[in-house]
Amino acid sequence: MTAVRHILITGASSGIGAGLARSYAQAGMTLSLSGRNADRLGKVADDCRQLGAEVVTEVIDVTDRDAMDIWITSRDASLPLDIVYANAGISAGTGRLGESRKQAEQILDVNFLGVVHTIHPVIPLMRKRGQGQLVIMSSLAGFTGLPGAPAYAASKAAVRIYGEGLRGHLKRYGVCVSVVSTGFIRTPMTARNPYHMPMMQDLDRAVAIIRRGVDKGKGRIAFPSFMYFGTVLSASLPWWLQQRWLNALPTGYQGWFGRKANGHNGARNADGEPIVEGFPVKPTKES
Ligand SMILES: NC(=O)c1ccc[n+]([C@@H]2O[C@H](COP(=O)([O-])OP(=O)(O)OC[C@H]3O[C@@H](n4cnc5c(N)ncnc54)[C@H](OP(=O)(O)O)[C@@H]3O)[C@@H](O)[C@H]2O)c1
Repeated sequence: MTAVRHILITGASSGIGAGLARSYAQAGMTLSLSGRNADRLGKVADDCRQLGAEVVTEVIDVTDRDAMDIWITSRDASLPLDIVYANAGISAGTGRLGESRKQAEQILDVNFLGVVHTIHPVIPLMRKRGQGQLVIMSSLAGFTGLPGAPAYAASKAAVRIYGEGLRGHLKRYGVCVSVVSTGFIRTPMTARNPYHMPMMQDLDRAVAIIRRGVDKGKGRIAFPSFMYFGTVLSASLPWWLQQRWLNALPTGYQGWFGRKANGHNGARNADGEPIVEGFPVKPTKES
């Protein structure tokens, strides 16, 4: 790939997306950053400008297909996109309390269709140029059905499989696809989880690992290694054994430590949804 001059990142107002934006910020780099919270997005953009980058922000919901089409094609028209990070995502963070129907729908909408709406506008443009890289944010949760987060795990499995398939398809056109599958990283998303999270990683370290994998054009960027190995091993266990093991996680962790340690009282709202403070639900007519 030629020198990287323009990177687009969704979900840049917080956590991993913000960390990636700051790490790429330097003179000569253009960053197109999106999120829904204008204040937080503005602060990340200011930091990146101070580091010398040119930054354009957009407050946009990744589930808005038409708006994403317009935004991404216009950003590419201003300067061809070299790397697109489909990073925006949500989790219910409810652990053993499960996910309601509404939460499951939102999670699949944002985490799967949001990725589709992010990468598809740019695929024909990158194909035409015969270069470019798409980075899809999956998770180690996307390797098995997790009893504590079924919709989240399903959404991450879907984007992983989708990305891995696309990688083979787009390779012949010179477009590289990388899928990031990571364990727990210290961000606002995990700060809300009312259960113990093993092998928690620092944001800066995780961003460095992701960037290294992306620079090398790796198809699967999975870490931390020990957890990845355990996850793949668990997924290859006989079904009955896998079920026993999975049913102890994260329910077991939460039951043993998390619920008491975090004072989570199992509260649910009027719709019967588990309440986790800060769960970034999309405003609906009812709520
Ligand atoms: N942290 C982890 O341990 C971990 C592990 C594996 C995978 N991941 C994945 O990594 C990605 C980033 O997670 P994070 O930990 O950085 O979470 P985070 O701190 O909660 O940040 C999530 C970002 O996604 C944006 N977002 C959420 N819904 C959106 C929507 N509908 N439209 C547009 N933007 C939306 C948020 O924007 P606003 O806040 O402005 O709404 C925010 O910028 C997610 O896909 C997550 O599933 C995280």
